[in-house]
Amino acid sequence: MDKPAYTVLVTGTNRGLGLEFVKQYAADGWDVIACCREPDSARDLNALAQAYDIEVIALDVGDFEQIDKVAQQLRDRKIDVLINNAGIYPESSLGDLDYAAWGEAFTVNCMAPLKMAEAFSAQVANSQLQKIATLSSKMGSVDDNTSGGSYIYRTSKAAVNMAMKSLAIDLKPLGISVVTLHPGWVQTDMGGANGLINTQTSVSGLRQVINLLTTYNTGKFIAYDGKEIVW
Ligand SMILES: NC(=O)c1ccc[n+]([C@@H]2O[C@H](COP(=O)([O-])OP(=O)(O)OC[C@H]3O[C@@H](n4cnc5c(N)ncnc54)[C@H](OP(=O)(O)O)[C@@H]3O)[C@@H](O)[C@H]2O)c1
Repeated sequence: MDKPAYTVLVTGTNRGLGLEFVKQYAADGWDVIACCREPDSARDLNALAQAYDIEVIALDVGDFEQIDKVAQQLRDRKIDVLINNAGIYPESSLGDLDYAAWGEAFTVNCMAPLKMAEAFSAQVANSQLQKIATLSSKMGSVDDNTSGGSYIYRTSKAAVNMAMKSLAIDLKPLGISVVTLHPGWVQTDMGGANGLINTQTSVSGLRQVINLLTTYNTGKFIAYDGKEIVW
């Protein structure tokens, strides 16, 4: 029997974890909507799009008008899984904090995932799987913070954790489930070469977490290995 064709929309897909999400879902037969800031220069993504059913769409998640336009363009689509993956990690050291960079990190890491959920909730609600997943980080856990620093990144991820918790509660009546994810320390441009795991291991684990997500376990913060993280 043919597998049902599910659709996933992922942000920030030209490199790192986003590119790996696209690769694995496409290889598994899903229809993939791959958003990235600059499709023309997304070489690895475009190479994948030659081999699989991948729709590449230009989207800077910091541009909320563009989010609305893309949502309008895709208004008739069913989106089974929406993955807010795009993120930034501006440096921040005490005594020399860049407050403009802080604002940008809040826009991209915290407000954009919620804006995406607002803009695409109808398409997710109309789908079969009805799931929204957002890449956060253990660095956004207040409980886990034993080393200090990273003010900008930590606060933007702690804030998105809270936003996703409220979203899980508010969208549950529509049948939509929401999960906040920690991908591990991963070898990407952001994680650096010393990361403990590669993108394949992280994304296979995260996909399994998304697979097990239902309205019964909605609103949790879960790592790629399935372990729940204390906020
Ligand atoms: N790697 C880790 O160890 C780690 C650990 C915990 C959490 N995370 C989280 O996992 C997610 C993916 O991280 P990664 O390691 O794959 O990072 P990465 O290698 O730095 O890739 C980040 C991706 O986000 C995109 N992006 C940044 N700003 C954007 C914007 N305004 N609009 C659209 N796309 C934008 C980038 O696109 P451009 O190429 O256009 O900049 C790139 O595709 C992030 O949310 C990150 O915080 C990563």
